[in-house]
Amino acid sequence: MNHKKYSSRNPIIKLVNISKRFNGFVAVKNINFEIREGEVFGLVGPNGAGKSTIVKMLCTILEPSEGSGIVDNLDLSVDGERLRKIVGYLPEEPRVYDYMTVMEYLRLFSSMYGVSDDKIFELLKKFDVYEHKDRLMGDLSKGLKQRVSICRALLHDPKILILDEPTMGLDPATARELREKIFELKKSGKTVIICTHYMDEADFLCDRVCIINNGEIIAIDSPENLKMMIKKDSETEVVFEGDEKVLQQLEKRFKKRGRAFIISGDSQESNLKTIEELKKAYSLKIIELKTVLPSLETVFVELIKNQNSYVGNNIIKPTEKSRTDT
Ligand SMILES: Nc1ncnc2c1ncn2[C@@H]1O[C@H](COP(=O)(O)OP(=O)(O)OP(=O)(O)O)[C@@H](O)[C@H]1O
Ligand SMILES: [Mg+2]
Repeated sequence: MNHKKYSSRNPIIKLVNISKRFNGFVAVKNINFEIREGEVFGLVGPNGAGKSTIVKMLCTILEPSEGSGIVDNLDLSVDGERLRKIVGYLPEEPRVYDYMTVMEYLRLFSSMYGVSDDKIFELLKKFDVYEHKDRLMGDLSKGLKQRVSICRALLHDPKILILDEPTMGLDPATARELREKIFELKKSGKTVIICTHYMDEADFLCDRVCIINNGEIIAIDSPENLKMMIKKDSETEVVFEGDEKVLQQLEKRFKKRGRAFIISGDSQESNLKTIEELKKAYSLKIIELKTVLPSLETVFVELIKNQNSYVGNNIIKPTEKSRTDT
């Protein structure tokens, strides 16, 4: 998305060699990354990859077994209390306060931060739940509950917002609306970390996406760059002008989408080479040329399947299969 725009900003989060073990089981292993101020950073990966464990360490719910982390100049291991004031967190499974009304629930938290009712109203309006403010939490639909939970995470106007699967289980229209709201938060300058299984969500929202598998980072880059590195489903559409008979012959070799021939080789480079050869061989003129990149979902599946390791432009060592402690 706007990757370049954010690349000049300062890092607000830095994790160095962070690991987390649960009774000898290595849930997160040697994680290193930086997140820049105002960036939307996505954590994606299969179930059990370690995404929630990473964000729990970032908001000091869990303590790292090894490594260090800085969040807005605060040390993860010593500045927990101050750090929680600048981080808003939507857990994977927010605790249910079914017996409280929306207002009672939000006041419970606003009182801790000294936040006024006006701020609660402002957030409820922003997330289109104001009219539900006197209903019981237990009576709300999943989508409404999720919006209220995000309002709660934003009550103290945190610099950094961590959302663990915010649109999980929501219908497509509600999920889209919520994504738009998250996008607005990004525009307002908040740094957002989002764990998600929805690749279109990561593609739409994230400046950079970090793919985690078996507790380790296997890829970290902008959605565009990640798509460029995958050979699969790399297509180039080309509209040629030239001899009718030649064009009819080409239809036997290549599929068409509208007027365009679809050239699908190993990479964009090889597709362009094929197009250049056809142009020369048959005296064709290129009218239109369009790159069709694979979806982020294809990238994800390919990377997880092949265990390719890629960080920025650097290939990193292959991931170890074993997660047991040594
Ligand atoms: N408190 C815990 N005690 C023991 N093991 C844990 C604990 N929390 C997480 N794990 C294990 O650590 C691994 C990583 O879990 P985590 O919840 O971080 O994965 P995730 O990527 O968020 O998965 P999902 O996509 O299903 O939410 C899993 O194997 C999980 O069972
Ligand atoms: Mg999780």
